[in-house]
Amino acid sequence: MSAAIRHFLQFSDLSRDELEWVFERSRVIKDRFKRYEFYQPLADRTLAMVFEKASTRTRVSFEAGMYQMGGSVIHITTGDSQLGRAEPIEDTARVISRMVDIVMIRTYGQTKIERFAEYSRVPVINGLTNEYHPCQILADIFTFFEHRGPIAGRAVAWIGDANNMLYTWLQAAECLGFHVRVSTPPGYPLDPALAPPGPHFSVFPDPMDAARGAHLVTTDVWTSMGFEAENEQRASAFADWQVDADMMRVAARDALFMHCLPAHREEEVTAEVLDGPQSVVWDEAENRLHVQKALMEYLLLGRAVH
Ligand code: CP
Ligand code: NVA
Repeated sequence: MSAAIRHFLQFSDLSRDELEWVFERSRVIKDRFKRYEFYQPLADRTLAMVFEKASTRTRVSFEAGMYQMGGSVIHITTGDSQLGRAEPIEDTARVISRMVDIVMIRTYGQTKIERFAEYSRVPVINGLTNEYHPCQILADIFTFFEHRGPIAGRAVAWIGDANNMLYTWLQAAECLGFHVRVSTPPGYPLDPALAPPGPHFSVFPDPMDAARGAHLVTTDVWTSMGFEAENEQRASAFADWQVDADMMRVAARDALFMHCLPAHREEEVTAEVLDGPQSVVWDEAENRLHVQKALMEYLLLGRAVH
């Protein structure tokens, strides 16, 4: 394996300087896309996407993004590949990475994507694991920037589950210098292995306290993929961890609302907030396309681009 290969398995895999580069490239690439300018720096490159969980946004944004940059895409799932018949992930990585230029994986445990990356000859991108969702947070921070400017020094309220989105927000806060105000229900505490205490976050038992004064309020489904057996139990535990208009009122006057989607209206967020004027969820979803094009460009071409 060449030492030059860079992966994006978690948010902290890129330095602050590299993230700033990727955000600036996202802006350039988005502007060109909006102007219908031809930009195909990844002609002849192939992306393999491996999905072990369902997806709408991640699949469409990576697939459209790679085609728009001149490359091609191969989509495989557990069910239609030998992964579903117990071929070891290390062997799968060795084989796929001899045939394509970059790989995106959505799977369960983070260790699985790490094992894949260890045996891969090409860059590997995390398209969501149980622990992290770094591409989504790239899009969310880029979206915040577009609406409100730099996120450094701002307060982000996280209301809900201690899940992959939260742990990625925490990594981003540490790296980019903002603060996360976290509130999770009793029985759903943060995992200290994924969220070692630090000055970049505070925990509040009452979700209203977490939201107070925040510049961005964000939440996610009560039950993430892979935890469906806990649905009923979570529905009662999380009932008060719903972002509603009262909660948005205690946040900063110009606070934004974000949700990675898919959302469940009247569960983790009311329709009034999700579809209301402070919500930027559709921009967040669109920006997956632009930031991931910039990310693939960076991982494959570095800074040698125009
Ligand atoms: N937000 C997100 O990753 O959506 P999908 O599950 O549809 O890819
Ligand atoms: N936390 C959610 C995010 C979905 C995009 C999940 O893992 O299912």
